[in-house]
Amino acid sequence: MTDQVLIFDTTLRDGEQSPGATMTHEEKLEIAEMLDDMGVDIIEAGFPIASEGDFAAVTEIAKQARSSTICGLARANYKDIDRCWEAVKHAKSPRIHTFIGTSPLHRAIPNLNQDEMAERIHDTVTHARNLCDNVQWSPMDATRTEEDYLCRVVEIAIKAGATTINIPDTVGYTAPVESADLIRMLIEKVPGADDIIFATHCHNDLGMATANSLAAVEGGARQIECTINGLGERAGNTALEEVVMALKVRHDIMPYATGIDTTKIMNISRRVATVSGFPVQFNKAIVGKNAFAHESGIHQDGMLKNAETFEIMRPQDVGLSGTSLPLGKHSGRAALRSKLEALGYDLADNQLKDVFVRFKDLADRKKEVYDDDLIALMRSNEDAE
Ligand code: KIV
Ligand code: ZN
Repeated sequence: MTDQVLIFDTTLRDGEQSPGATMTHEEKLEIAEMLDDMGVDIIEAGFPIASEGDFAAVTEIAKQARSSTICGLARANYKDIDRCWEAVKHAKSPRIHTFIGTSPLHRAIPNLNQDEMAERIHDTVTHARNLCDNVQWSPMDATRTEEDYLCRVVEIAIKAGATTINIPDTVGYTAPVESADLIRMLIEKVPGADDIIFATHCHNDLGMATANSLAAVEGGARQIECTINGLGERAGNTALEEVVMALKVRHDIMPYATGIDTTKIMNISRRVATVSGFPVQFNKAIVGKNAFAHESGIHQDGMLKNAETFEIMRPQDVGLSGTSLPLGKHSGRAALRSKLEALGYDLADNQLKDVFVRFKDLADRKKEVYDDDLIALMRSNEDAE
């Protein structure tokens, strides 16, 4: 089994499904270009049957793509699949992704019994494969589907020509140990499983999407489905930046590679936050404003001596220029001295002692002490002397 994990980004499809995250045509093209540029293997560009706008965006993204495979989503019917193909066929490397809900709850919606659904899966995957060599099939709500039935329908989809089988945890219900076991079980039990790629597609309802995705890789999945900033319905999808950086930083225990240029992460995160209107929370892993910021005295002192004391990855690796040491009431003398030196003030120890008292007084009244505050404080100190 290969050590390469494919990154399938669905910011423009599942991400855009977040209520209020709609992006314009131009914004989608721009994000797709950034994804392509950062080395995303497969871009799910939209759901072509959903609207004329989605169809146009997927079509244009397919035409502009340089390296990424361009994928469109389609329900399990010929009309959706044909429309999807019409949009993605312009890509150098097109993919049709078709899905149907296989759990008892989801089977009840189209009111299909197990045999009727199995037949629908066979027919629609066969139809998709007659149009396109690259077909992904997903049993939606796979993690709440009976194990025997899941094995049965995965086998049918493989026999009908699916080249990737995606196992969605649609409602973020699974736990890491189950996520790994499920993929392992499918690889062991389903005939033909060795000839295809298993993908994992996790939602974050219990905050376990990243852990579940990485566990699925341990179980044998070789494609992770994710979005920038974890954008997605409800609590979102697996965050691309989290799984990619986890695989990079903990390569010692998860020896899998991705083709992502991680230095592009910060830029695309900020752009997706802007165009989707979903700001990134300050303490979000990897891309939050505070992910590489240290305010407390002990941490700042440690960071000034050796960055590895409180950082497990370099900010430059995700596209930041460096660590930030914001000054606040928890900051200590070392950080104040370092900041003052950067501003051109070289103080003797006794001078620093005085300034530190006044700085603490100011910091008690303000959340953060900015460069301008320090300059004003130094000027008033000089005037007083
Ligand atoms: O969460 C999900 O099940 C999906 C499918 C359409 C793959 O997004
Ligand atoms: Zn999803």
